[in-house]
Amino acid sequence: MKSILTLLFLVGTFMSCTQEPNTLSVISPSGNNGIDFQLNDDGEAFYRVLHNNGTVIDTSYMSFDFQNQKSLKENLTILNATTHSLNETWEMPWGEQREVVNHYNELVVELEEATAPHRRFNIYFRAYDDGIGFRYEFLPQQGIDSIIIMDENTEFQLTEDYTTWWIPGDWDIYEHLYNTSKLSDLDAISKRNHQDLAQTNIPENAVNTPVTMRGENGLHLSFHEANLTDYAGMTLKVDNETYQLTSELVGSDRLGYKVKRALPFKTPWRTVQIADKATELIDSKLIVNLNEPNKLGDVSWFEPKKYVGIWWEMHIGKSTWDYAGSQDMNTFIEKLNPTGRHGATTENTKRYIDFAAKNNIKGVLVEGWNTGWEHWIGFEDREGVFDFVTPYPDYDLEGLTQYAKDKGVEIIMHNETSAAPRTYEQQLDTAYQLMHKLGIHSVKTGYVGKIIPKGEYHHGQWMVNHYRKVVEMGAKYQVAINAHEPIKATGLRRTYPNVIAREGLRGQEFNAWATDGGNPPEHLPIVAFTRMLAGPIDFTPGVFDIALPTKPDNQINTTLAQQLALYVVIYSPIQMACDLPENYEGQPAFQFIRDVGVDWDKTVVLNGEVGDFVTIARNERETGNWFVGGITDENSRELTIDFDFLDEGVSYEAVIYKDAADAHYRDNPTAIAIESLDVAKGSTLTVDLAEGGGFAISLLKK
Ligand code: NOJ
Ligand code: CA
Repeated sequence: MKSILTLLFLVGTFMSCTQEPNTLSVISPSGNNGIDFQLNDDGEAFYRVLHNNGTVIDTSYMSFDFQNQKSLKENLTILNATTHSLNETWEMPWGEQREVVNHYNELVVELEEATAPHRRFNIYFRAYDDGIGFRYEFLPQQGIDSIIIMDENTEFQLTEDYTTWWIPGDWDIYEHLYNTSKLSDLDAISKRNHQDLAQTNIPENAVNTPVTMRGENGLHLSFHEANLTDYAGMTLKVDNETYQLTSELVGSDRLGYKVKRALPFKTPWRTVQIADKATELIDSKLIVNLNEPNKLGDVSWFEPKKYVGIWWEMHIGKSTWDYAGSQDMNTFIEKLNPTGRHGATTENTKRYIDFAAKNNIKGVLVEGWNTGWEHWIGFEDREGVFDFVTPYPDYDLEGLTQYAKDKGVEIIMHNETSAAPRTYEQQLDTAYQLMHKLGIHSVKTGYVGKIIPKGEYHHGQWMVNHYRKVVEMGAKYQVAINAHEPIKATGLRRTYPNVIAREGLRGQEFNAWATDGGNPPEHLPIVAFTRMLAGPIDFTPGVFDIALPTKPDNQINTTLAQQLALYVVIYSPIQMACDLPENYEGQPAFQFIRDVGVDWDKTVVLNGEVGDFVTIARNERETGNWFVGGITDENSRELTIDFDFLDEGVSYEAVIYKDAADAHYRDNPTAIAIESLDVAKGSTLTVDLAEGGGFAISLLKK
């Protein structure tokens, strides 16, 4: 009893007067968000989350099931509770803004079982003005050095039937279209076996995070996790009737459990971003704030950049990754018979380097330069197929690196693993040494296919640890990582700023070959408020040849003006101009891609509603120029931009790239109007966006 009294005294400043006895509470710095923690009569732990005096998450229990121990669930007592506060400002080495305020109040609850085996653990609750987070800490146990978690049962008891933007809780891929439904109608099982996914596993009615919701009164919530380290990714099971979400960790069929950890350790943070308006979700820095500070120090060897690459030409079927075109098991490496359609040739790469050098683009990605592509998909046995240091005979690796360097351009390495991470790990040191030797500072990795060994999934603990090994190897050799088919972003870019971008969503590539009509116009207005809350996205915008004449069944479901807007709306420190150089030649709209920045001092979200539209303004670090991008879904709309965000006393030349009056994403996508005018703080501008349209504005300081 004594300790309870002490802790009530300690946390007294964070308690509201309506409090029930025995409740521990913490509220955010401005008082808008609060967390209550309690034990019930059986000694079971539960919490609630409050926002402006309303209950956002009602009584929600937390417990764990283990392999060789009884569940950690009941007979708990509170040993102690302490509170802490932090108000710091930290700097992003590159990012959507330079300075980030990290301001929170924290409650740490120390718990112990009253009965044998008297296990102890702690829960850390943090209340921020933009949301809340909590994590568990497992403490040393007598005679036990590690624990095997079969299930984490963290509940989130919602209080109404939220409109929800979700992708299914697939253990193997995030590349699903977003769905919009009420929680009561959410059906993830219906998303099984999508024909365009190389691997997919949706065991139950669960969603992947970030998952975003809007309530009747306009409150927005987004659920996710921060600092996913040596643990399984979390999906959220959905109960259609009670509106309860429960954590469901990604498992390993091979190992028969979810997580194995040596004691002591801390779990990732479970996070809820809470916003009165949709735009505040994008402003929120909760996820990065819940990660540890930069461990790598100076990472100026990585420079944010735009890039082009030998990539889209493979996706639209113009050229191939492989050199030989032979898929015979015995000959795929030894007998290389050129097809004549290989994309990654020395000559073609030079063409891209020349194009980049001429157009203020600093990177060139080359896919299909190394041996193994004859055998990369459609085979069970993919171990040992890819060689990450051996180029095909028609690719001059060293010569091209130098050729690029001489023109102020850097080659971006490509390592497709075809989901054989053990083969990659065997060659990891050698592969990254090679990059270091060549002066290559970024790599795009890929994990297409079912993971080998069988029974592992992309989002399980084993793969989480693989992705981390790659990041650490990258740090050792000054290489930044852009992973495709990745584990989700959980804010690790703060700790490891060589984690630059990743895929982890349905990217542009689906527009080239999806059999379901491609990404619909609402896709990116949803992504901006869901996947983008997790971190930078390698979406690869910039298709100008929108009708895809060589692919009669496919097209991009946006206007050209929207493709430009994406350079501002979708945040990434690397932004591809993904179309073929010949499709940019002679296009006046390409000037926007030449001009647009990639590294920002400030970001201002001007307007937006999930799944409908969004407009974002960003201020370039180096030049002080501003860029604005706005996109809409399948509905046309008029948006008024208030240039209040501009710096006082500076005048800017604004170049506006907008949908022409008769533009439409389906019938007339490339109709674009380009206008220049002078603007300053206080100006306003009304822009009409076509169906599936958008606009981009460069504001160059005069
Ligand atoms: C899937 C990636 O998302 C795509 O960008 C890449 O071209 C292929 N894998 C090949 O690595
Ligand atoms: Ca992909």
